[in-house]
Amino acid sequence: MDAIRIRGGKVLKGNLKVSGAKNAALPILSATLLADGPSLLRNVPVLRDIDTTLALLRFLGCETSFDKERHEVTLHTTRLSRAEAPYELVKQMRASVLVLGPMIARHGRAKVSLPGGCAIGARPIDQHLKGLEAMGAKIKLEKGYVIAEGPGNGGRLRGADFAFDLPTVTGSENLMMAAALAKGRTTLWNCAREPEVEELGRVLNKMGARVDGAGTDVVHIDGVDELSPFDHAIIPDRIEAGTYMIAAAAVPDSDVRVEGAVLENLEALVLKMRQAGVTLERDGDAVRVTRRGPLKPVNVTTAPHPGFPTDMQAQFLVLMTRAEGESVMTETIFENRFMHVPELTRMGANIEIHGRAAIVKGAEQLEGASVMATDLRASASLVIAGLFAQGETEVRRVYHLDRGYERMEERLAALGADCERVKDAEG
Ligand code: EPU
Repeated sequence: MDAIRIRGGKVLKGNLKVSGAKNAALPILSATLLADGPSLLRNVPVLRDIDTTLALLRFLGCETSFDKERHEVTLHTTRLSRAEAPYELVKQMRASVLVLGPMIARHGRAKVSLPGGCAIGARPIDQHLKGLEAMGAKIKLEKGYVIAEGPGNGGRLRGADFAFDLPTVTGSENLMMAAALAKGRTTLWNCAREPEVEELGRVLNKMGARVDGAGTDVVHIDGVDELSPFDHAIIPDRIEAGTYMIAAAAVPDSDVRVEGAVLENLEALVLKMRQAGVTLERDGDAVRVTRRGPLKPVNVTTAPHPGFPTDMQAQFLVLMTRAEGESVMTETIFENRFMHVPELTRMGANIEIHGRAAIVKGAEQLEGASVMATDLRASASLVIAGLFAQGETEVRRVYHLDRGYERMEERLAALGADCERVKDAEG
């Protein structure tokens, strides 16, 4: 297994270009199931989650090719050879559930393995299923699978009014895709407002759908009879951008230009970083990150967009271990998203967990250690800790990191970090 070895203390300087957004690419890949013919997706990040989705789409009968040099994916769906997403693929990545909406909308049936719990929490999909039921689908749960069937034995879904109990990103995306081919108007209330949901709305409209309001809490979709293939370049990854912004802020005297960081999509993070004493300056389509003085402690509570993203909590917490004083990170989205904390404690951080809050007593000098995490963002936070810890840090099981960051060690090394990919002791 691969690990990333980092020798801390090197100042980061230079330019880094953000990749295409993983969480925008995943639903858009699934949306290709809604149309006949070849679609072209550009600016696709080279990540394990993209490979997993492509494997699932191939299993369903889609032809795919991924030019990793050019970051371009071509997908060609004519008809599905199977309407089943098996456990072996879904367990690798929860976002596989995004094929449910398109499959039932286009083919009247879908059998998708229930994703089950994951490292960061239970993560049910009840809202996806209730929304499909409101559109006339019959849903059965059998031996760990969801079996969904359109009204009247595999017929076309009907437009409906549906209010989510809580905003869910992939739930909103699944129902938007299902409604795009339903008969009549669907109105979805209390939708997730993440930029990735808005991006899916843009792509569906390119395909000929009639989606209005994606990216706000109320989305109207007027169903159409068929959709067309599309050509689309994915928006930059705001979470990857934010992760490198924090990496730069964590190492004093760094000066990094993060190209493609759209600050409007990261407002809560930007405010908190500035409050902590980090300088963020807009520079064309980039943001320049510098920090001269000490970091101030800042409290953060995660919330659905436009609140502070749960996907940035671990990285921000690491930054706060360097602040002069006490800060509190409260995680409200997932119940088990502090896996980085015990590892950081092993590196000498002073952090206590009380329920959903982590109290960080900053200004400790971290020391390098061998660490690992079973969640993507937690792994990224450990790499950031390694950048400023004294001595050598080895972040193990980097396949978690590779799910969401393209060649992180090479990109940090290009900025001056002393880090490399190695084989760890586990083999
Ligand atoms: N929830 C329910 N019922 C549902 C759906 C969600 O109770 O039917 C709950 C979840 O358990 C959670 C909350 O609602 O407590 C929000 O979950 P959401 O459904 O929004 O999460 P998701 O769609 O499964 C996406 C991202 C995650 C990101 C979350 C929150 C994708 C592919 N994944 O997941 O990304 O953390 O939204 O913003 O878009 C990551 O990239 O590292 C990652 C985990």
